[in-house]
Amino acid sequence: MSVFVVAGTLLSLAACFLLLHLNRHVRKPGQTTGHSYDGIEEYDNPLPAWWYWSFVLTIIYALGYLAYYPGLGNFKGLGNWSQVSQLEKEQKLAEEKYGSIFSAYGAMPLDELAENSKAMKMGRRLYANNCSACHGATGTGSFGFPNLTDEEWMWGETNEDIVTTITHGRNAAMIAWKDILQPQGVVEVAEYVSRMAGQEVDEELASKGKAHYQTYCVVCHGANGKGQKSFGAPDLTNEVWLYGDSRLRIQDVISNGRNGVMPAFKNKLSGDKIHIMAAYVKSLRRDS
Ligand code: HEC
Ligand code: HEC
Repeated sequence: MSVFVVAGTLLSLAACFLLLHLNRHVRKPGQTTGHSYDGIEEYDNPLPAWWYWSFVLTIIYALGYLAYYPGLGNFKGLGNWSQVSQLEKEQKLAEEKYGSIFSAYGAMPLDELAENSKAMKMGRRLYANNCSACHGATGTGSFGFPNLTDEEWMWGETNEDIVTTITHGRNAAMIAWKDILQPQGVVEVAEYVSRMAGQEVDEELASKGKAHYQTYCVVCHGANGKGQKSFGAPDLTNEVWLYGDSRLRIQDVISNGRNGVMPAFKNKLSGDKIHIMAAYVKSLRRDS
């Protein structure tokens, strides 16, 4: 296959050259060709020399280009250039240029870093590239994607918790309860959850729901409903809801379960950059 591509490319270059060359010599220099269109006649003149030579130069340039860069079938080119090698070269240059800045920030305590406006400018760019698609441009999240500017932290709010969240990612495991509780049980426990959140509820349903809650839900969400960060189980008593606060939404989460996934960044961002990101997350909350 490669042979055909090489032959095709070289042959068409040769054909270009031949065509040019044949047109250099004309049969009746200085005379008209005899064609006439509405009284306009055509002279039989060769290409001007400068024109001819600039075409020849482009052909020579093309040959040089094909020798140096990978353009002829599988031939890798004498320059050993590839998109990957170019990317690696640029990444290395960037690493040389910015690496020392990142490692200086990486060595600063996180709380201090969150106060450093230059570092936080860098953090904002990193955030825009890596996080904003899910958590929103200003960190306020959306349905299923937690708000990073509020007071609720499913996975913990200490510096270590946040660094761990970004480095290793998180995987929420709220199983579906519809088979265990049956539709009626789901309605009852949703009623109880809503009462914990301070909503107006049907007391009779809620008190039945309380029994289910104590049997099935306390392990993760706690006896008081305050949640537990080692499971990523959210606080059910405040007005912050990842999946919505209406009765139907709450019933749906309980019935079908949810498995929110925060991706791990350890293979994508260096430790220093994760450190800057964590400081940026803290600054988001402070600034909101
Ligand atoms: C194994 C631990 C575990 C158990 C047991 C568990 N949950 Fe959850 N629950 C979670 C996790 C983790 C989440 C967050 C899911 C996510 O982020 O995708 C969650 C989310 C929720 C939410 C959504 C909260 C929001 O902010 O939108 C509700 C409501 C809820 N659970 C109610 C219950 C009820 C009621 C029970 C008992 C029938 C229960 N959970 C049992 C771990 C658990
Ligand atoms: C593909 C979407 C996605 C991207 C990209 C993403 N996240 Fe997340 N993130 C999530 C989801 C979903 C959760 C909640 C997981 C769960 O349901 O428990 C989460 C949770 C978090 C939490 C924990 C919130 C809490 O309440 O404890 C933090 C902190 C966080 N993300 C920061 C970041 C940062 C910083 C970045 C960029 C480096 C980022 N995320 C990129 C989807 C994403």
